[in-house]
Amino acid sequence: MYESFTKLKEDCLQCRACSLCETRTNVVFGAGNPDAQILFVGEGPGENEDLTGEAFVGRGGQLLDKYLTHIGLSREENVYIANIVKCRPPHNRDPKPEEQASCEHWLREQVKRIRPKIIVCLGRIAAQKIIREDFRVTKEHGVFYERKGCYLMGTYHPAALLRNPAQKADALSDFIALREKISEVFGGTTDNGLYSV
Ligand code: URA
Repeated sequence: MYESFTKLKEDCLQCRACSLCETRTNVVFGAGNPDAQILFVGEGPGENEDLTGEAFVGRGGQLLDKYLTHIGLSREENVYIANIVKCRPPHNRDPKPEEQASCEHWLREQVKRIRPKIIVCLGRIAAQKIIREDFRVTKEHGVFYERKGCYLMGTYHPAALLRNPAQKADALSDFIALREKISEVFGGTTDNGLYSV
């Protein structure tokens, strides 16, 4: 296991394990506070993220930040945001199973280091990789599953909400369920006082 998050990031930025490295501009390692105990996992970088090297900075990212703010969270303070694949799949296609497999160890190392108590999967790709292969977002969004003391939940991907705003109300109720889960798990606050929602 990596003893430092900085070293993990440095190594990840050099990764050439799959062919996505040929077309990327930047590796998008992740964003937020690595001392947070809530981890959000998206699918993979889009165009804006590829160009800037930052996770969720496009319109989807702005929408995600709105939901976070609504429940008293922020990427600066108390969440970390990562992706299943760290390099942009061309034309924003779904990452292929072999690309996901090549990239998996980076997320595993991030999880080992962050040790989140709650993981929120943003969209089908993340939920099927992390929660269950046949996870259906429309049916199971907002439901928490416990695994080895960590709570896993899947919700809509922000890009899907931009395409289909009718699902925004469901997404909002998932974030409210998250706020309740945070209160239950952390009793409203944590050791480092980060979660006072
Ligand atoms: N979509 C994702 O899944 N991740 C990002 O970082 C940006 C868009």
